[in-house]
Amino acid sequence: MKKTSPRSGRVAGKVVIITGSSQGMGKATAELFASEGARVIGVDLNPPKSGRKNSPIEFFKMDVADEAGWKKLVRHALKKHGRIDVLINNAGFSRRAPIIDYPIELFRQTFDVNVVGPFLGIKTVARGMIKNKSGCIINISSVFGLQAGGPNRAPYSASKWAVLGLTKSLALELAPHGIRVNSVHPGAILTPMLLAGGGTPAQIAQDLGIGAGRVGLPGEVAAATLFLASDEASYISGAALTVDGGWSAGSYRPLRPNLKDS
Ligand SMILES: NC(=O)c1ccc[n+]([C@@H]2O[C@H](COP(=O)([O-])OP(=O)(O)OC[C@H]3O[C@@H](n4cnc5c(N)ncnc54)[C@H](O)[C@@H]3O)[C@@H](O)[C@H]2O)c1
Repeated sequence: MKKTSPRSGRVAGKVVIITGSSQGMGKATAELFASEGARVIGVDLNPPKSGRKNSPIEFFKMDVADEAGWKKLVRHALKKHGRIDVLINNAGFSRRAPIIDYPIELFRQTFDVNVVGPFLGIKTVARGMIKNKSGCIINISSVFGLQAGGPNRAPYSASKWAVLGLTKSLALELAPHGIRVNSVHPGAILTPMLLAGGGTPAQIAQDLGIGAGRVGLPGEVAAATLFLASDEASYISGAALTVDGGWSAGSYRPLRPNLKDS
């Protein structure tokens, strides 16, 4: 295991591609990785709205469902940095509606962003990682892609379960090449995607019965992703890591006052 001193950064010198980097969890993750010494290329449809001037994060405009875009991105990264160490498939798309009203176009868009995107990203990046006999791929799924589904979210949930299947299979397929593949399963995290569903963060946490009593912050997911990408996780592959304040452990409801523990 390669040793890094705490001062040098937990992902110092690693070349990292992260999709969906312009807001929410992707933005927090890109910033955390850059602060820990990584050379970060952030991929998104739109540039970040409130990016720092002279940001250390390079922005690359791309639709993750575009195969030609991935080829261009990988050529660019290899020319500039000579290698790609970490791929984080974070870009996501979610629209809620009852199944009887769900437009097929939105179902296809959900799968294009959430499943085709990671598939193309891994397919394009893995060739160089195989050559280097080293690499790390992290797929951002969801609690809705691990042990639960949700009403009005069938297409989203199905796409996130597909991400788990990609992760498990590729962890096996790529292990002999020194490539680790893991998935992260956030619960309710305070980002534009969560707020688009309506309700205040406190109402959402209460409605979902989250044990921690609050929604999570983007930086809390970024910290888990950073651990998986670091050399500290050198023996972790095929894992599904929940970051959900205990939500998937079971819905938390206080006991009724007259109900005694036995
Ligand atoms: N927020 C939550 O509560 C929550 C919970 C579980 C899982 N997730 C997952 O975490 C990831 C990040 O979620 P978030 O809440 O930060 O989302 P968000 O909607 O706030 O941000 C997503 C980013 O992805 C980009 N994006 C969307 N489609 C793209 C495409 N085709 N190509 C390139 N970029 C594209 C958007 O422009 C945006 O910047 C997603 O995969 C999401 O499904 C979120």
